[in-house]
Amino acid sequence: MSDENTTLENAPLEAADAPVKKLFIKTYGCQMNVYDSERMAEAMGGSGYESVDSPEAADMILLNTCHIREKAAEKIYSELGRYKDLKVQNPDLKIGVAGCVAQAEGEEIIRRQPMVDIVVGPQSYHRLPALTAKAIAGEKSVETDFPEEDKFDHMPARPKARRAPVAFLTVQEGCDKFCAFCVVPYTRGAEVSRPVDRILDEARDLVSRGVREITLLGQNVNGYHGLKDGKVWGLAALIRALAKIDDLKRIRFTTSHPNDMDDDLIAAHGDCDKLMPYLHLPVQSGSDPILKAMNRKHTAAQYLALIARIRAVRPDLHLSGDFIVGFPGETDQDFEDTMEIVRAAGFGTAYSFKYSPRPGTPAAEKGDKMVEDSVAHARLHRLQALITEQQVATQEAMVGRELKVLFEKAGRLEGQMIGKSEYLHPVFVTGSVEIGDIRTVRITGTERNSLAGELVD
Ligand code: SAH
Ligand code: SF4
Ligand code: F3S
Repeated sequence: MSDENTTLENAPLEAADAPVKKLFIKTYGCQMNVYDSERMAEAMGGSGYESVDSPEAADMILLNTCHIREKAAEKIYSELGRYKDLKVQNPDLKIGVAGCVAQAEGEEIIRRQPMVDIVVGPQSYHRLPALTAKAIAGEKSVETDFPEEDKFDHMPARPKARRAPVAFLTVQEGCDKFCAFCVVPYTRGAEVSRPVDRILDEARDLVSRGVREITLLGQNVNGYHGLKDGKVWGLAALIRALAKIDDLKRIRFTTSHPNDMDDDLIAAHGDCDKLMPYLHLPVQSGSDPILKAMNRKHTAAQYLALIARIRAVRPDLHLSGDFIVGFPGETDQDFEDTMEIVRAAGFGTAYSFKYSPRPGTPAAEKGDKMVEDSVAHARLHRLQALITEQQVATQEAMVGRELKVLFEKAGRLEGQMIGKSEYLHPVFVTGSVEIGDIRTVRITGTERNSLAGELVD
């Protein structure tokens, strides 16, 4: 993106010699929020704001929120409550709520918490500098439209500073799948893919600044269908084009829907060396009646057949997933089927959640079929124990193996460095390595969520 994109909306708020203001952003939810927070901090940088690590030091606090489960949404109000004193101490402090709670609740946020100055939905971040100017002038804003324009085209050029070796890059937003439990299609809107050339330009720019691994992001990333010279490209074509960038060494993507794993993307797992052998492919349940009630539009057997096809081209694929337990109407047998698919698919890791009814979703209408909380809780506990058992076994099987590790940062101990394996395990070593190096490491032991190793080359 170039400076040509500077419009009145994102023009700097203040003259260059104005005192620097301080911005504190707290991010909740998925990786897409992490990416968005980074872009918002950059957009506000153009308006004289620099990022700080604590709300106490800030002139502006921005919460980038998640609405996926009730707990996530309620956290925002308790966090806002904590800022009351800060606002008393500093009446000029501005408070903004961005992200999926902003989109879902809009004005209601200011009604519940009148000290909030700005409510801005995920598609309107390019308007943040303008909304901040209004807030400084004493005017509150609620901006939750889904504008036609691509917000990323209206944000300032990214700064040129050197970067950490791993980065996220959003390629697709929104979701058309409408799983019965999920708020995302409502908070993020319809699926929209960014054009191929914009993504390639952004990737080249990231790589020129030291990035060696890019994770492509989308709420439904493998539904990517971006334009290139009038043709539509799928995710696999995009990955292959990115793989041609020499100094980009690793590519990942998240999160995918099983029904969008097309032939080309499956093939890419076998023929694209830079595409890492790790796949987060949520299935949610192992029970066909529950999958149907969830509107997932695939069966457990179809999911397992898909995994088998991907493993046929990439036998060492490390599989990760998401599960919901206690979906309305889930019986003991349905839950046992979920336990079974965890074993059968061989998840190396997985995230599991107790079903949380979300306002506006079809499943929330099925209150009469709600699974008793204690039952859902017990199921979650059993599922998590099984997943942990499989994760431990997968990690122990790594001991003695040599893995390629991309080093990201220094550890807490003297001389310790931390990186990630091809399979996304954090790996700790002690020795002389540079951040951004990819080195061979022999795994010597495992911790709960990480591996320990020694440098081989
Ligand atoms: N787009 C991704 C992720 C969506 S949200 C996907 O399709 O997989 C991340 C995870 O949160 C989901 O995979 C699901 O397991 C969980 N989740 C979504 N809505 C939920 C709800 N209402 N209650 C509990 N967990 C939920
Ligand atoms: Fe939500 Fe389903 Fe879309 Fe994932 S695919 S974001 S779970 S509606
Ligand atoms: Fe949460 Fe929104 Fe991401 S609801 S999971 S922050 S898309």
